[in-house]
Amino acid sequence: MDAEFWDDMYGSRERLFSGNPNGVLVSEIADLPPGQALDVGCGEGGDALWLARRGWKVTAVDISRTALERAAAAGGDVAGRVAWMRADLAETPPPAAAFDLVSCQYFPLPRRPGHAALRALLDAVAPGGTLLFVGHDLADLPEQVANGLVPRDLYQPDEIAGQLRRGWSIEVDETRARTAPAPEGTRHVRDAVLRARRLPST
Ligand SMILES: C[S@@+](CC[C@H](N)C(=O)[O-])C[C@H]1O[C@@H](n2cnc3c(N)ncnc32)[C@H](O)[C@@H]1O
Repeated sequence: MDAEFWDDMYGSRERLFSGNPNGVLVSEIADLPPGQALDVGCGEGGDALWLARRGWKVTAVDISRTALERAAAAGGDVAGRVAWMRADLAETPPPAAAFDLVSCQYFPLPRRPGHAALRALLDAVAPGGTLLFVGHDLADLPEQVANGLVPRDLYQPDEIAGQLRRGWSIEVDETRARTAPAPEGTRHVRDAVLRARRLPST
């Protein structure tokens, strides 16, 4: 699932996602005071735009140029509050300790020995900041999805919770029903949700 895969995927339809923010983002983050946010794998920008319209300054990163172009086109009203950036976050770490919120919504990050890319995402959360990592419940997914990808080979929220030991407070680690209908062509009915706070002194 490289840049070409995702550009082809977005290019295959006029619009891949609804444009609405993800339900878990809305329910978990609505009460947080705005600050600096990193939207990891922002896609067509529904989450980044929702955050920016609520006063957050957002760095929205995706590997797909097509998705980023659509996102930027939809966000003219908050152009000064969102920086759209093309990067492969499996290879390029975001700045450390820079964000009050790091939001990973259905971001497909392959598990790797040493966990460097995962650690870089966790390190991007500033002391006192929040990590929100949301995935599809594995029970809703086939063994293999597009391009031979095996969902079990991706980091799962509960697994990440297990890696967050000292320096973090786990606030939510659960599987729950989606609030929004499953995206077209999928059978996703439940979300796996991790919300964790990096303790201020770390
Ligand atoms: C399932 S989509 C989710 C998009 C968006 N977060 C949402 O919930 O609508 C996954 C997104 O991650 C992006 N992506 C996949 N691998 C990536 C990587 N290594 N670095 C940056 N973005 C990546 C894809 O281009 C795609 O937009």
